[in-house]
Amino acid sequence: MGLPRADCPHKGSPMTNDLFLRACSGESISRPPVWMMRQAGRYMAEYRALRAQHSILEMIKDPELAAEVTLQPIKAFPLDAAIIFADILTLLEPMGLQLEFISGKGPVFHNPIRDAADVAALKPIDPRRDLGFTLDAIQLTRERLAGQVPLIGFSGAPYTLACYAIEGGGSKDFDQVRAWMYAHPKIWTDLMDKLTEGVTDYLLAQIASGAQAVHLFDSWAVSMSQADYRRQVAPWTRRIFETLAREAPDVPRIHFSANGGHLLEAIAEMPVDVLGLDWRVDAKAAIQKLGTHRVYQGNLDPARMLASDEAVIEGAREVKQAFSGAKAHIFNLGHGIIKTTPTDRVRLLIEEVRKA
Ligand code: CP3
Repeated sequence: MGLPRADCPHKGSPMTNDLFLRACSGESISRPPVWMMRQAGRYMAEYRALRAQHSILEMIKDPELAAEVTLQPIKAFPLDAAIIFADILTLLEPMGLQLEFISGKGPVFHNPIRDAADVAALKPIDPRRDLGFTLDAIQLTRERLAGQVPLIGFSGAPYTLACYAIEGGGSKDFDQVRAWMYAHPKIWTDLMDKLTEGVTDYLLAQIASGAQAVHLFDSWAVSMSQADYRRQVAPWTRRIFETLAREAPDVPRIHFSANGGHLLEAIAEMPVDVLGLDWRVDAKAAIQKLGTHRVYQGNLDPARMLASDEAVIEGAREVKQAFSGAKAHIFNLGHGIIKTTPTDRVRLLIEEVRKA
């Protein structure tokens, strides 16, 4: 069987499990599909074994390894979707930022953005030339999945990328980024324009390579007030979703923001198919506020997975119940899986979700 045609993502194998895609389009289905943010990662011994021999960037940049890691959780657990193994930060490298993952510290950019000249120097990306490793990994993974479950592509949202680019790495609440934004309103919009163009081209290329849904991570949007989110972030995020809706209307769009409770109304105005909720958001209240006509994703507290079998089962039931009033629900953790999560609990959680 050949690769799915790059210009025709829907010509891959017929899907044997399309529960996730049906939930994305709001079909009422017998049980919520389930996958987990960061489902390929250090909590799995198979991942740690490969990681002992390769850096994270080596794994991402080798399509064979990236495809293998993407498939590790699919082979180990009865999940309903795969997500391509990559990182939101690799997009910034070809734009000109030097990325390194430092063990114990996390990601670092050695030449963070400081001024207008740095923004002007950011290069436009050509996804095939600059990020072809992820596009090839998507094609390989689709081929190997052979329709078993759908494959999700993703990107960081412009604001979250700007956070890392300006801060030069992680931060508790990115104070420096907001300070910079208030101090340099014109340069801010130039930066957001450039990031938006990069993210849009990257996601369209992922779709052309076979991604069957796209997930936008705006992890740090939480650091914004609602008014600033609407002014300084939402217009650019919206532009991405509008372009995707126009260019790839059949590919579901998912938005996720960590702890974006106070931003939910603004986020819900975006043209997305699925709203991801962080574990701190009260699902019932959110559905009441935003409407039962939507599709939601979430939101088990990842910390429950470390506690006990009972805590997982109880949490899974609670989450299913909380979302039962929505048009459709995609079961997920309320943020990425924690690296000390026992794999038995992952299995237990999926079994519990799959119970009618
Ligand atoms: O979900 C998946 O399984 C797909 C792969 C994926 C990774 N990162 C792999 C990864 C996805 C979707 C991401 C997204 C990502 N990356 C986000 C947004 C999601 C979120 O958590 O809010 C962010 C903010 C990043 C940036 C990033 N990448 C950080 C802060 C770190 C260090 C984290 C740590 O605990 O050390 C990474 C590295 C990273 N990306 C790992 C994985 C599996 C751990 C790498 C390792 O050391 O093996």
